[in-house]
This record gives sequence, C-alpha cells and structure tokens, in this order.
Amino acid sequence: MKIIREINKMKTYARIMRKENKLIGFVPTMGYFHEGHLGLIKTARKQSDIVITSIFVNPIQFGPKEDFKKYPHDTKRDEELAKTCGVDVIFYPRKKDMYPDGFSTYVNVEGLTGNLCGKSRPSHFRGVTTVVMKLFEIIKPDIAYFGQKDAQQVFVIKKMVEDLNMDITMKIMPIAREEDGLAMSSRNVYLTKDERKDATLLCKALKMAEELINCGERNPKKIIKRMRNLILESQSARIDYISIVDTKSLKEVDTLRDEVLIALAAFIGKTRLIDNAILNVKETEKAYECEKSQKR
Ligand code: PAF
Repeated sequence: MKIIREINKMKTYARIMRKENKLIGFVPTMGYFHEGHLGLIKTARKQSDIVITSIFVNPIQFGPKEDFKKYPHDTKRDEELAKTCGVDVIFYPRKKDMYPDGFSTYVNVEGLTGNLCGKSRPSHFRGVTTVVMKLFEIIKPDIAYFGQKDAQQVFVIKKMVEDLNMDITMKIMPIAREEDGLAMSSRNVYLTKDERKDATLLCKALKMAEELINCGERNPKKIIKRMRNLILESQSARIDYISIVDTKSLKEVDTLRDEVLIALAAFIGKTRLIDNAILNVKETEKAYECEKSQKR
C-alpha cells in the first residue's frame, strides 16, 4: 500500500493508472475509520482495479464553533485497516497544499444546501463540495463511494457531479449500524457511556416513523411530533431538526406521497449526530394492501 502526500505525485500516479486502463475507485474520508468506511472500501475493492482512499480533515467544512480541532484521528490504525481491506493508495494531502495562501475559489450547490444540515451549518456544504471537487480533479476516479448516513451530502455531491458534467459514477452504500441500531460515526467516540445509550433514541425514532407510515400515517407533522417526543425522553438530547423531505428537492412535504427522506440531527450532550431513512411511500402502500388481502 502506497502513502502519497503530494498533490502532484497523486495526480501522476492516477494518470499512469488511467493510461493502463485501470478502473479507479475512490473513497474520500476524514479518517478514524469505522465499519461504514471499511464497507465503502471493500465494495470499491470488489468493483475497481485500483482503490484510493483520501484522509483529510477538511477545515473549510467546519463552522467556527465546531469540532475541527478535536476531530478524532488514529493514523496508524487507519493505515492497518486500509491495508487489510486492500487499499492501494492512501492520499493524505496537506492543508497548506489544499488551501495555500490566497485560495479563493469555492464550489457551491444552490438550492439543496439551504435546509436540513445546511440551515444550522451554513458554510458546511460549500466546504464539502469544494474539497470533493478538488479531490476528484486530482484523482479523476471512475467511481466514487459515499455512505447514505450523510444523506444531504450525497444529494449535494450527486448534483454537483451532474451539473458539472463530471465523468464519475457515484455509488452510495447503506448506513452501517452498531448492533443496537446506532448509525456508525467517527463522532460516536465523543459520547459518554450514558450518552451512548441515549443516542440509540435517534434510530428508534426513525424506526417508529417507518412503523407509523406503514400503518397508514401520512401527516408529516404528526410523525415528527412523535419522533421529537421519543428523542426528548433523554435529558441529554437537544434536537437540531427533524424533517421529512421530498428526495428530489429536499423540500419539506405537506403529506406523504412518493419517496421521502426522513432526516434528523440532534445533540446528545455536546455531540451532534445525524441519521436518516429513505422510504418509498407508494411501495409501503402496495405492501400494506398485499398484507391486507392475504389476511382476508
Ligand atoms: O463524509 C466525509 O467524511 C466528508 O464530508 C468528505 C466527503 C470526506 C469531505 O471532506
């Protein structure tokens, strides 16, 4: 496994691989690997000739009061895990090379970035799309792998790829969860023992929403209220948002009809966690009808 830190060396390596007709799979990360990252890497390993992962804690996607300075890292462990999963190259760009003095060009996807996480983290997605665009330009991968846990990030990057006619196939992998359902996140390490228990309320709230929808509830306000009440059973919880949005526009829906994203962000203690589920309401209805007719 190669370790590359220089942007030019990374470009050269990727160019040589492309010349040799190798299919490049790319997994961008901020490190501190968990099963979610490893799932992306393992899928990339199966589907591509060359697997490149980047580890870069991107300063411009963090707000001034966020956890950039204390973002968890364990380089040695990440390198060992990457090697075991068959990574060919870890790309560790340096902050001063990614954002040299005078850096002033940003990529901004309008529309999809104004609500959900974009509301409480106003410059976050501009930071994400800028760094992902730079990484895509350096590596020029054929396939890029992302996790569904960052649902809005996935929609925003897909839109950037589409709008800018980039020749990259986006592969999205399902949310990796702990045994008790908590969505895996590098930030889970911040939770105390009690907070860790309370954090499972987030996935329980999503499960409850799915059950309510399966039982015929179509009013998003009622569903959100029930989710809110469940999460607030924990004294350490503070809800940032719970929203049910259309998967095309990411705009809130008045009634549940087609495919929706149920997304939430909440602080458990000082740790902000996100989770989500995508649900096709029409399919739910069909399954419900089928179940009813089988019972008749
Ligand atoms: O999802 C992440 O880890 C980051 O937002 C990403 C895509 C690596 C960009 O910094």
